[in-house]
Amino acid sequence: MNAFASHVVSGGKARAGMIAAALVVLALLPSPRLMAADATAPAIVPPFAERLAAADLVRGRVVFGACRTCHYPDRGAGHQNGPSLWSIFGKQAGTQVGFAYYSQALKDSGLVWSPEYLDAWLADPSGFVPGNMMMSLGVPDPQQRADLIAYLMQFRETPTQSPPP
Ligand code: HEC
Repeated sequence: MNAFASHVVSGGKARAGMIAAALVVLALLPSPRLMAADATAPAIVPPFAERLAAADLVRGRVVFGACRTCHYPDRGAGHQNGPSLWSIFGKQAGTQVGFAYYSQALKDSGLVWSPEYLDAWLADPSGFVPGNMMMSLGVPDPQQRADLIAYLMQFRETPTQSPPP
């Protein structure tokens, strides 16, 4: 090995050593990402049943205002930009008679609407059924979602706060 080559090799070793040392130091330091996550950690979302039990129908009616531009919940009011939400729980998604604008994604979802599924859909409308066509940001606040769902549960033959059988 000539002098130049041995210099390169030993230089490489020294660099590798320094990198290893730096990695050890980094591993020992508290991760800035974790610290930031702690500082901004989202509050733990209580289970849906708990939120539903604490739901406020008056607040739910107000929250539903964001949906009213596209959905009527009332019996016989029919469809708007979105399908009728009369008695929606227990129904197969994407099957309301007379609504012509369902996405294939929703029709193919195989979903039967339950309050829990609506909670998940409104938490993340584009993620829950990818490819659906509901142009809504949903309802980011977990308790407001439960309020809205409790309100919507009234729009059925026998209003109750428990899910349909
Ligand atoms: C800009 C119009 C628009 C808004 C606002 C909107 N929706 Fe929708 N919604 C739609 C459309 C369109 C569909 C059909 C989506 C598809 O087929 O992919 C839909 C579908 C639904 C369905 C499924 C119905 C079925 O027959 O399967 C539910 C439940 C629903 N919306 C609830 C809500 C709620 C609750 C809100 C308020 C937070 C809301 N939507 C806001 C347009 C809207």
